[in-house]
Amino acid sequence: MADPTNVLQLEYEILPVLTQRRSPRAYLDTPVSTEILNRIFAAGTSAASCIGEQPWRYLAASQAEQPEAFAKLLATLKPFNQVWAKKAPVLVIGLAKRTFAKDGNPNDFARHDLGQATATLAIQAAELGLQVHQMGGFTADEVREGFNVPADFDIVTAFTLGYPGPAELLEEPLRSRELTPRSRMPVGEILFWGAWPTPESEDFAEAQK
Ligand SMILES: Cc1cc2nc3c(=O)[nH]c(=O)nc-3n(C[C@H](O)[C@H](O)[C@H](O)COP(=O)(O)O)c2cc1C
Repeated sequence: MADPTNVLQLEYEILPVLTQRRSPRAYLDTPVSTEILNRIFAAGTSAASCIGEQPWRYLAASQAEQPEAFAKLLATLKPFNQVWAKKAPVLVIGLAKRTFAKDGNPNDFARHDLGQATATLAIQAAELGLQVHQMGGFTADEVREGFNVPADFDIVTAFTLGYPGPAELLEEPLRSRELTPRSRMPVGEILFWGAWPTPESEDFAEAQK
């Protein structure tokens, strides 16, 4: 069930599904059932959020079920994303509620919490054999206008969702990129125990990368 393509190799052992989650550009046209979609978005709701606000919202369109909305959302993507995203079964916009429901005060953590929810649902998707590909390359104002999104919601990210397909479905250069080994910064470059690194400290050069 798990996607065996381009599995991440890390210096430490982590949950297998985290190494199998990736951002593909090649998707099969296999439809995604409502049951599976609901399980994936339910996983997103399991994420932690500031005072339990759950500020994330998702505006979604299935290519099969809402073809007009799908086309409208697709048109808001930058051309370099439209090229491959047009084959994805589902297209989603991630939004964050700017203010707390209980008192209307600004929620400085709304975008953070949206990211957590999206990361969580992407992991659930991978566990079920699907993959999410997040995108910043889209025009938020076009989504706002086209779908009458209220001002209280930040339009933050877009993502595709579906069953990944073979890289051969893509033209070059995307085909090669799909199979380029994925890599990550070592833990030593992102984790600083006790103090921020200074020019004198051993890990300073690594941290500046
Ligand atoms: C906020 C955000 C914006 C991104 N924007 C784009 C994008 O516009 N187009 C694209 O092809 N990939 C985009 N990506 C995907 C990243 O390039 C990808 O996650 C990264 O290279 C790591 O690859 P992996 O997810 O397969 O591990 C974006 C990812 C995130 C989280």
